[in-house]
Amino acid sequence: MLAGKRVLLIIGGGIAAYKALDLVRRLRERGCSVTPVLTRAAEHFVTPLSVSALAGEEVHRDLFDLTKEAEMGHIQLSRVADLVVVAPATADLMAKMAQGHADDLASTLLLATDTPVLIAPAMNVRMWDHAATRRNLATLKADGVRVTGPNEGDMACGEYGPGRMAEPLEIVAAVEEALADGPLKGRRVLVTSGPTHEPIDPVRYIANRSSGSQGTAIARALAGLGAQVVFVTGPAAVAPPEGVEVVPVESAAEMLEAVQAALPVDAAVFAAAVADWRVTTASGSKIKKKAGELPPLELAENPDILASVAGLGEGRPGLVVGFAAETDDVVANATAKRGRKGCDWIVANDVSPATGIMGGKENAVHLITGDGVEDWPRMSKDQVAMRLASRIAEALD
Ligand code: CTP
Repeated sequence: MLAGKRVLLIIGGGIAAYKALDLVRRLRERGCSVTPVLTRAAEHFVTPLSVSALAGEEVHRDLFDLTKEAEMGHIQLSRVADLVVVAPATADLMAKMAQGHADDLASTLLLATDTPVLIAPAMNVRMWDHAATRRNLATLKADGVRVTGPNEGDMACGEYGPGRMAEPLEIVAAVEEALADGPLKGRRVLVTSGPTHEPIDPVRYIANRSSGSQGTAIARALAGLGAQVVFVTGPAAVAPPEGVEVVPVESAAEMLEAVQAALPVDAAVFAAAVADWRVTTASGSKIKKKAGELPPLELAENPDILASVAGLGEGRPGLVVGFAAETDDVVANATAKRGRKGCDWIVANDVSPATGIMGGKENAVHLITGDGVEDWPRMSKDQVAMRLASRIAEALD
């Protein structure tokens, strides 16, 4: 599976760097070429000689190495691989990545690369638990960086807890997963998900019961088929999937802006339950309750994000999929909605409380396309997502 692939391996400066030597060996055993990069700190733990001997290639160490720049500039170096792997990813390297620093070869490559990145964090348990590292990790995940480990166990520093780098074979498995050739490889897909919150004042808002679980499952399934997914999500009850670019938004207006910024895409799936109205009289400070008096709430219609994208001439995604959450005459209403909104497909479902679909784990949908209506049996939201993702892959083929 890894035969013919190339990994740019950035070895950070931590005690776990010795395991990176074994990782090089394991990757090469599987026919994967390894271009090694050592940070200055890493040279305290492993020697360039041992790394290059195992990789069968010279080690890149210096941003300002004239000879190397003449052979292959650092921008070119950042593009040679199918995947960039950072192992061990130290707390410092993660902080640099999250901040976008470029003050040495490793951080510059990470900022310049346009290939997917996988990190294997390794650090002392307190550093791993520190709020700064948690923030950096969340930023990196939101940027679409894949993460493997760390594991829990005894640490070289004598403490116990999470922070040990994943074992080389675990990292190999994560590399295989990241490089899996799916039918959507090379495709960029947008997914909107979750509810939107429309502010009344700084503490109150209008919302709906969407948990975001169906949209999240769809984003995960599309990424699993190899798509590059931009996941624009309102405040959902479930965590976003790994390996997708997460764009968190609050209101419909913010969602529209994020969607427009994500274009162009090959396909767009609008699973978000966008609030139909916003409060035009939203107050910048908390509205105080006054006896016998109701606050003057004026509503205005929100822009229809799906319809605006489906109606684009140039720059319209090849496939636009909408959702229709209905409680009555599901198929008839959803079919009319498909025509009104101008989308290619509509995934319709019955969200009457008796179905338990809204906020639940299962869904029963009808897929309405130009060819007619398909009634899918009730199944888990993950299964609906996988079935929809493979239909999208077929349609884009
Ligand atoms: N949608 C959108 N922007 C909006 C409203 C809806 O992008 N402002 C999208 C949803 O993500 C979904 C589809 O449009 O894919 C259908 O949304 P729905 O709320 O069911 O349809 P409405 O047009 O609002 O009709 P109604 O509420 O009357 O059923």
